Amino acid sequence: MAALGGQPIIIIDPGKKRTTGRDAQSMNITAAKAIAQAVKTTLGPKGMDKMLVNGVGYVTITNDGAEILRQMDVQHPAAMMMVQISRTQEKEAGDGTTSAVVLAGELLTQAQKLIELEVHPTLIIKGYKMAAKKAQEVLESTAINVTKDETEVLKKIALTALSGKGSEMALDDLATLCVEAIQAIADETETDIEHNIQIISQRGGSIKDTKLIKGMVLDKARAHKNMPKKIDNAKIAILDVGIEVQRTSTSSKIKISSPEQMDEAYQEEYQTVKDQVDALVAAGVNVLVTQKGIDDISLHYLAKLNIMAIRRVNEDDIKKLVRATGATLRSNSMDISPEDLGSADLVEERGMGNYKMLYFEGCENPKAVTIDVHSGADFITEEVKRALDDALNVVKVVLDEGKVMYGGGAPEIEVAMHLREYASTLSGREQLAVSAFAEAMEGLPRSLIENSGLDPVDMLVKLRSEHNNGNRTVGLNVFTGEVSDMSNTNVVEPLKVKVQSIKSAVDAAAMILRVDDVFASKYTGLMDVDPEHRIDSYDGIQAPSLEDIGED
Ligand SMILES: Nc1ncnc2c1ncn2[C@@H]1O[C@H](COP(=O)(O)OP(=O)(O)O)[C@@H](O)[C@H]1O
Ligand SMILES: [Mg+2]
Repeated sequence: MAALGGQPIIIIDPGKKRTTGRDAQSMNITAAKAIAQAVKTTLGPKGMDKMLVNGVGYVTITNDGAEILRQMDVQHPAAMMMVQISRTQEKEAGDGTTSAVVLAGELLTQAQKLIELEVHPTLIIKGYKMAAKKAQEVLESTAINVTKDETEVLKKIALTALSGKGSEMALDDLATLCVEAIQAIADETETDIEHNIQIISQRGGSIKDTKLIKGMVLDKARAHKNMPKKIDNAKIAILDVGIEVQRTSTSSKIKISSPEQMDEAYQEEYQTVKDQVDALVAAGVNVLVTQKGIDDISLHYLAKLNIMAIRRVNEDDIKKLVRATGATLRSNSMDISPEDLGSADLVEERGMGNYKMLYFEGCENPKAVTIDVHSGADFITEEVKRALDDALNVVKVVLDEGKVMYGGGAPEIEVAMHLREYASTLSGREQLAVSAFAEAMEGLPRSLIENSGLDPVDMLVKLRSEHNNGNRTVGLNVFTGEVSDMSNTNVVEPLKVKVQSIKSAVDAAAMILRVDDVFASKYTGLMDVDPEHRIDSYDGIQAPSLEDIGED
């Protein structure tokens, strides 16, 4: 059973223990198609959004296929495979999740027709694999090379990934910001978004106020109001402990008979704290970050010496800060030496009203960057964060691979055309499967057209005739509603997103088509599907890979 916002879509018959043959196939196909149907209307910048409400009433509004599937309560095994392809797609290519799922749904719809014509699923799979290989060749032949410093093209890539995802107000700024962020962390060997780019959010202001900070931001305020708010040329000590007075153990008693003695006892206690702070000062520290607490008396000393202290920083942030500032993590302030200190051009507390954050800018490691998202409501912030994640990933993919293509349905129409030509060179049933694949490919532009409120028959005819005349980059500009040359627009996508979405879709469709027997397994009542199962191995059924084309 799958549920979108609590509404069940497909139900597995709980009374039945086993379904075989055509029944099993058609049940699986129906389940998988329902998943594709659920995300289809979100495709493209004019796609609709989905409102997802969870059990406790938390609302998510999103246009992101992967997010919708993540939040859907999917239990049908075949439907779960569709969810899995969206994850694979996201991991491998960073974007194109909706496209992959929609294409898988189209491939299954076509397959169903062929099964009715008595074409065996094995032959359909073989034809699909041949078509997928051909499709990849066609895509590669239309791809354009991009170099790392073609910032304008990279920006278009980011723009395309961002459009239709809640960022319209500041599309241009956000695209520029994504490119700058990736260029800052780009690496010859591996551009690591996860460890280098931090995305934080603040309620207040609008999306336009979203900024790129070259450095790190801690969701914390300084520990004492008498400490400086801003430190230039920061020398940063990071401790995984705190600084606290060592109290004498509770069982021991000190007999105090005069005020002088009292003073002495205090002095002794505080001397340990003072020694620790003095050691920090001697090492040249002006910013102190600790994982544990700092007590009042220590704060007082630190403030007096103009040291900015930040206490009780969680372990994750401590690790990031160590990476960003180049500090060595220490467990004893007495051991701190000048070499252990990290550095930043500036550490400053900023914020609106009572809400403060600490900004570490110009860190020793220039790869530490932060995107500070502003918006008026949390559900907008979340959608913008998801869009940024897509955009950062596509820019990274393009930097890594160096190949892009114009979108707007142009690649799919071109592929479909070549597949039809290819099909005519084949004989028998494979020809049917390859033609079916071509039909399925056109399902993507068809959805883009439908989601823009245009007439699919009319537009598809126009698109096909342009491509037949050799205009390979003509697609649909959803904003003007015109068929036009996409090379005059900003709609550019990584080759990898397109290639991977075909791979993901074919893998899923083939896997679903191969199953002709579904039975309730002994232990769980339903077929046992581990969500962590990789897409290419499902309950002992090996997914076909594109490499074994030709063999069966
Ligand atoms: N301005 C545009 N005009 C036409 N098509 C566009 C435009 N921007 C994006 N697209 C197309 O929208 C599709 C991607 O839609 P999207 O909702 O992001 O789904 P996905 O999850 O597959 O990336 C791609 O086919 C892309 O070419
Ligand atoms: Mg997208």
